[in-house]
Amino acid sequence: MSATFTLDGEAIEFEPGQTLIEAARVKGRFIPFLCAHPEFPAHGSCRVCTVLVNGRPMASCTTKAAEGLVVESTTAELKSDRQALVQMLFVEGNHFCPGCEKSGGCTLQSLGTELGVTSAGFAHESPRRPVDASHPDILLDFNRCILCELCVRASADVDHKDVFALSGRGLSKHLIVNAESGRLADTGMSTTDKAMTVCPVGVILKKRHGFHAPIGERPHDVESPRQHVEHVKGRAP
Ligand code: FES
Repeated sequence: MSATFTLDGEAIEFEPGQTLIEAARVKGRFIPFLCAHPEFPAHGSCRVCTVLVNGRPMASCTTKAAEGLVVESTTAELKSDRQALVQMLFVEGNHFCPGCEKSGGCTLQSLGTELGVTSAGFAHESPRRPVDASHPDILLDFNRCILCELCVRASADVDHKDVFALSGRGLSKHLIVNAESGRLADTGMSTTDKAMTVCPVGVILKKRHGFHAPIGERPHDVESPRQHVEHVKGRAP
């Protein structure tokens, strides 16, 4: 007899070591997520995947499945909290989706659509953030960073270059380029790096590659927004 937990009343079998979100996904159940990535250990920064585990809120990407757990992922309060979290991510940066090269291929945008986010919901913070165009082939637009740290980990753990880091704390926390000059041109970053592929928004872009898929043929259009969140570049946990 396999071990099971219940997810919104449905029995979900799991393998030892699987997280709640992984086990749910195998059974075809979608729990919204953003910062999780199958190639990196989950670190639970965005909290979009929060579920109730025996009545307590927990990140489903970091919580291991265990026999007999009672998990709820679709309560009205959880849905409302997820919408608010995504709204806060939108207003905390400068996300001008219609003019963004990643529009239609952005996981945050697809997640907002999937969750029914139709307005900002909060006052825009409109931070002043730089754009780094110093590299001949790569553009960095820090306005769109959601602090998921995937580029930091990809550059450190896979590319072994440590091109990115997070600096500051709390509201002043922000992504930086790990060079004395602070410029991407002064790092070993290349367009073939893993760090180029993991950003769920439009911070790290190849120059001269924007808007290559017309509206109607972008990932967000070809798949449903949910499928795009689930499948984008293998990001699903
Ligand atoms: Fe679980 Fe971000 S905290 S996906």
